[in-house]
Amino acid sequence: MARKPASLFVCQNCQAQYPKWTGRCEQCGEWNTLEEETRTATPSRSATTRKGAGLKTTRLDGKATPPARLDTNMAELNRVLGSGLVPGSVVLVGGDPGIGKSTLMLQMTCALARAQHNVLYVSGEEAIDQIRLRARRLELDRDPKALDQLELAASININDITASLEERRAFQVVVIDSIQTMWLEGVASAPGSVSQVRSCAFELIRLAKTLGFVLILIGHVTKEGALAGPRVLEHMVDAVLYFEGDRGHQFRILRAAKNRFGATDEIGVFAMTDTGLREVPNPSALFLAERHGNIAGSAVFAGLEGTRPILLEVQVLLSAKSGDGAARRAVLGWDSSRLNMVLAVLEARCGLKLGSLDVHLNITGGLKVTEPAADLAVAAALISAATGQPTAPDEAYFGEIGLSGEVRQVSQTGIRLKEIAKLGFRQAVIPRHVGTANARPKAPHTLTIAETGHLSDLVRRFSPAGKD
Ligand code: TYD
Ligand code: MG
Repeated sequence: MARKPASLFVCQNCQAQYPKWTGRCEQCGEWNTLEEETRTATPSRSATTRKGAGLKTTRLDGKATPPARLDTNMAELNRVLGSGLVPGSVVLVGGDPGIGKSTLMLQMTCALARAQHNVLYVSGEEAIDQIRLRARRLELDRDPKALDQLELAASININDITASLEERRAFQVVVIDSIQTMWLEGVASAPGSVSQVRSCAFELIRLAKTLGFVLILIGHVTKEGALAGPRVLEHMVDAVLYFEGDRGHQFRILRAAKNRFGATDEIGVFAMTDTGLREVPNPSALFLAERHGNIAGSAVFAGLEGTRPILLEVQVLLSAKSGDGAARRAVLGWDSSRLNMVLAVLEARCGLKLGSLDVHLNITGGLKVTEPAADLAVAAALISAATGQPTAPDEAYFGEIGLSGEVRQVSQTGIRLKEIAKLGFRQAVIPRHVGTANARPKAPHTLTIAETGHLSDLVRRFSPAGKD
């Protein structure tokens, strides 16, 4: 019988496993990514062998109580978590280095401690002094109530951490900053490697489930957008939250990518200030705050993030093509292939020729829009830029555009219209309602609705009779 290898080589990029070292991973093609790792210790069968007890099964229609929740006292965070932290659950908070994960978690732990919850914050990245300095900057060190309940530790040793958790058993929330710095004795590879991250997380999660504390793991994201280390971490936890944002902007978005105890797609909006993260309960107003009306090439889009409506400004700048090559399409915050589609439809169906111009498109605020519902606002900004006529300052847009130039209906018309009205806009340009089973949601009475069936109707709005 072949002897099992004591160690194996794991590609740190794609996690392919090899019995021998090679210079190049055959699976993903990366060079020098194999690292030697010992097999994760699976308990030997003989040590644990016992006859299993029979499973106790139950009926589906029994009583079910929703899980109790710890209120984080941060509305934006609660929204993403699904109204608070569930005891015994494990949450992974991922994001680029420097985006504000530690800041967010320190603010949260203080808020929890202030509400008399016992909290432990373990940092493997920063010394206690650094955490204190940050707390001072956030003015968190002035609250005697919070100080009594929050304990700090600087450690990267999982054996130490789990031993003290087992001994103390008093913590309700434990934050590990970050899982990539943690190290488990007996796993022969460096912190941050696939097997270290997996084994450390496993140890902590096992303890969280048995002792019933909330475990929060902070994890860094690689350039490609994946959590550094094993993706398997995402499967091991109950919720995965991503903290995103453009470092050049102050807005930060917390997004749930997975949540066993709540809806995914919910977002929380924060602004990074000199004194930490501020919650932004009304993002639309903030995203539109710097808008200058009466400039050609700008249109307001009523978008949706999860269940939450958000108004954003789409800006377009057209300029004469520079150089001989193809015209430039510089897109920030939107999908460039969708921009090309809208341009092609405008040209083919409405005769608006923009092919020879450079197009710059920007969604202000640093937010990334993925909804096709933004098509109509983008088209409006393009037509406005091309005709030199500003969109009306009190007008907002949403709707998807099809290849024949038809404007298609999108979901959640009612919520979008309400948000448009809430922010004082008086007109909404939206897709024509075609006879489906349900009637169009009633628009708020302050709002005039302009239904648009075809993109050429939109073009006509910019060239009223007598002008042009
Ligand atoms: P941090 O929470 O350390 O990021 P992460 O843990 O995700 O790596 O945040 C670091 C950045 O946030 C840093 O560049 C400075 C900025 N920051 C502020 O702008 N204001 C503040 O009050 C704090 C604490 C940080
Ligand atoms: Mg950090």
